[in-house]
Amino acid sequence: MTQLIRVSVLGATGYGGGEILRLLHTAGDAIRIVHATSRSKAGTPVSKMHRNLSQITDLQFSNPAAEQILADSDVIFGALPHGGAADVLAPLYDAVKSTDKIIIDLSGDFRLRDADVYKEWYDHTHPRPELLQEAVYGCPEFNRERIRTAKLIASPGCFATSINLSLLPVAVEGILSGVPQVVAMTGSSGSGADAKEGTHHPTRAQTLRPYKVLDHQHVPECVQLVQLAGSRIDSISFTPISAPIVRGILAVVVADISTAYKTKDVQDIYRKYFADSRYIKVLTDREPECASIAGTNFVEIRPRVTPEGRLHVLCALDNLVKGGAGQAVECLGIMKPSLKIPGLDWPGTWP
Ligand SMILES: NC(=O)c1ccc[n+]([C@@H]2O[C@H](COP(=O)([O-])OP(=O)(O)OC[C@H]3O[C@@H](n4cnc5c(N)ncnc54)[C@H](OP(=O)(O)O)[C@@H]3O)[C@@H](O)[C@H]2O)c1
Repeated sequence: MTQLIRVSVLGATGYGGGEILRLLHTAGDAIRIVHATSRSKAGTPVSKMHRNLSQITDLQFSNPAAEQILADSDVIFGALPHGGAADVLAPLYDAVKSTDKIIIDLSGDFRLRDADVYKEWYDHTHPRPELLQEAVYGCPEFNRERIRTAKLIASPGCFATSINLSLLPVAVEGILSGVPQVVAMTGSSGSGADAKEGTHHPTRAQTLRPYKVLDHQHVPECVQLVQLAGSRIDSISFTPISAPIVRGILAVVVADISTAYKTKDVQDIYRKYFADSRYIKVLTDREPECASIAGTNFVEIRPRVTPEGRLHVLCALDNLVKGGAGQAVECLGIMKPSLKIPGLDWPGTWP
């Protein structure tokens, strides 16, 4: 029998927090949400913010003290903005690291191993740099074994997941070289629940808007991962674009490979690499697209070799699910193998 797991979700009014609640709900009685925290909406029903959960949960947002969260929870998900996340989660981690409890963070605060690199890309001095060596990067397609026993998971970024999955098979194969070029489009939910100048509907609904060009904070975590996977590349040229959709990322990744492979050869490499990866679909007969993975933890990926011999990969995923909450919940499933989370296996809708 599965043991009841008590979960707190910090930053639960946000889009990431809402997706964690949605996915965990599908685990039924195996999981009890003890705290869905918010500083601004304590006492408000969760379903007021996350309308998909109305008449599904009568949970209310709350704003308990850290001691209460620690006492009541077996698992703590952080869905807080980077910068503030480490301030909240580091003291919680200090308290849980020698217990059976687990922290899974969706923010960028524990993804990078080097505090100087964090400062450079996040423009913020890390409050607890020593913890960067202790966090496990929550990419199941690379770190599954380390995730099983981790106490602090740094769940990868949304864009980063699309780049990681596009490059990992050739990085591990030892044939990735040069500076990969990435252009990726994302939906508006990637910017969080609060409307900002660059994410407000009228300013982005009818346009394709590049932003943080060659300067997006997800680049260093991808470089770090492909280096750990055995590649010598030290940069990635990345152009992110806001697209007029709500959910989804479509990435176009072009990279040099050091062996004269044909498309069939790289398809074999990707199929083999992802053979045991439940959520990765390697496509060879159609293009990846956002509609077929929206709301799901699945990823569509299509590798090819261009006539000039370069690697060309298209990758589609849902930024809030495999690119965020879904991947974080997937990590929990890896740590608790007897736990069934049907929401992760939901195939989505079509059309
Ligand atoms: N959106 C995505 O597609 C996506 C994908 C992967 C990873 N992520 C990462 O996941 C995290 C959450 O993203 P999101 O899109 O869910 O953001 P969001 O919609 O802006 O929600 C953030 C939540 O954190 C709370 N909060 C804000 N500042 C806080 C602070 N200093 N201390 C405590 N609580 C604070 C807010 O609620 P109150 O103000 O009511 O407390 C809010 O509920 C971010 O680090 C983001 O980078 C997001």
